[in-house]
Amino acid sequence: MIDVERARAETPGVANVAHLNNAGSALPAAPVHAAVVEHLELETAIGGYEAAAARADRIEHTYEAIATLLGCHADEIGVVENATRAWDMAFYAMRFGPGDRILTSQAEYASNYIALRQVADRTGATVEWIPEDPAGGVDVAALEGMLDERVKVVSLVHVPSHGGLVEPAAAVGALTRAAGIPLLLDACQSVGQMPVDVDEIGCDVLSATGRKFLRGPRGTGFLYVRRALIEHLEPPLLDLHAAEWLDDGSYRIRPDARRFENWECNYAAKIGLGVAVDYAMGWGLDAIRDRVVALATALRERLADTPGVTVHDVGREQGGIVTFSLAGTPSAEVAAALRSERVNVSVSPRSYSLVDFARRGLDDMVRASVHYYNDDEELDRLVAVTRRLRSRAGQSILS
Ligand SMILES: Cc1ncc(COP(=O)(O)O)c(C=O)c1O
Repeated sequence: MIDVERARAETPGVANVAHLNNAGSALPAAPVHAAVVEHLELETAIGGYEAAAARADRIEHTYEAIATLLGCHADEIGVVENATRAWDMAFYAMRFGPGDRILTSQAEYASNYIALRQVADRTGATVEWIPEDPAGGVDVAALEGMLDERVKVVSLVHVPSHGGLVEPAAAVGALTRAAGIPLLLDACQSVGQMPVDVDEIGCDVLSATGRKFLRGPRGTGFLYVRRALIEHLEPPLLDLHAAEWLDDGSYRIRPDARRFENWECNYAAKIGLGVAVDYAMGWGLDAIRDRVVALATALRERLADTPGVTVHDVGREQGGIVTFSLAGTPSAEVAAALRSERVNVSVSPRSYSLVDFARRGLDDMVRASVHYYNDDEELDRLVAVTRRLRSRAGQSILS
């Protein structure tokens, strides 16, 4: 059970806003802020390289913490600047040829799709959509029927950015593992809001970000690559951190997942990421998931009872992202009205996941994403503002 009072006391931002934009960038907890500031101050006091050397153990700890979180080894982790770059470094390292098949879900994230399309166009591979389950999410049985020796990768977004859906990642992983096909899991929105264990899921590559449900600093992300795969993936970009220049004029790529990193990085943020991971594990990912699901379910119920509101979330399993629209009021206006009442939400535009929006006949949606430090009163504030907007819209139609 989460001690909500303590969680809020350790989250300075809750004094200012009802932050329901955790799928965008969550409010950092005080220890994360303190760790980042402490390192920046050390850099100011003694120099950047010297501060990194003095805090080498804390920097290393970030890898250990992420490995513990995901149930893997620290040498399978690379820390980069965001989830997209993490995903790209692994995907662009994969080799494809004419006739190869890349399978992906219809809720694929725009940045991933654009990369899949670019590589398919360059190589003659095809990108194919996995059919949808009527409840929403990938149809696992249909996926099984699609797997053959020409399928070179399956790309799955664990939790799409635009809704409550939690994809059946472990069921997909069981199939890809049995077929010997790599599963590339975009866990950007799932890590930090629920337990994510790479062996339980059976994914070979996983990408995630620091700033969302992990409550880490902005500009942080990480990549997991299964040990057996690392040496088969030659990063699309190399530098003197990822590889070593040898006397004979050749180079040797390092054997661990840090081959996907680049040399320079924001060490304060990297330390802060490790603290955020420890902080999440301190609460426990099961406890976080339970509270997130309870809050999101309560919000969906209250919104569904609000005149003019349509809740759009699909899926047999749902997480902390709640999407809705208000009849007669553009989503951007709903979000702006909420912001003026100090309730943070975001708008999910169609272009972020075009196929899914088009298939479901949706344009944009208001996205309210809860975390364990949110409380009931904040949910009520969101619903009250939405109700007021609705009655104002109703009055202007009548006048
Ligand atoms: C599902 C999903 N994948 C990837 C990303 C990209 O993450 P980042 O901005 O850290 O690159 C996002 C960001 O919203 C996302 O929701």
